[in-house]
Amino acid sequence: MASSWEHFEELIKAKMRTVYSEMVVELGMNPKNLGEIDNADGFGRVTGPCGDTMSIWLKIGGDRILDAGFTTDGCTTSLASASMVTLIAKGSRLEDAQKISQQDVLDALGGLPDESRHCALLAANTLKAAIEDYLEQKENTE
Ligand code: FES
Repeated sequence: MASSWEHFEELIKAKMRTVYSEMVVELGMNPKNLGEIDNADGFGRVTGPCGDTMSIWLKIGGDRILDAGFTTDGCTTSLASASMVTLIAKGSRLEDAQKISQQDVLDALGGLPDESRHCALLAANTLKAAIEDYLEQKENTE
């Protein structure tokens, strides 16, 4: 029999599904790659126009992103957007990861309501900032 928490979680998800895609509901309720990475090679922190701040840490090996983690003080859709951008970035070549756009995140999430589309932009911009930070550090040590 489902526990009362599982029942409550299902009720929340059912409510969310009236507004968001299944992917957004899943990642919003069970975010992936949430948390800081120790000894990261790249770090980006961006505050969006909504006032929410997102941080992304990257572990890089050769020309690939080996690991990515994030934190955000934003909403459910920012949790889903940051989860998705880090999922896409992990294993990607840096040059490809730099091109991950707001639209890529939106497409992978199955879309977001108009008023939440900026959360996907914040995620894409924070990833870019983390990659730039890595590239700048690399340039300064060469
Ligand atoms: Fe600010 Fe989603 S990131 S509302």
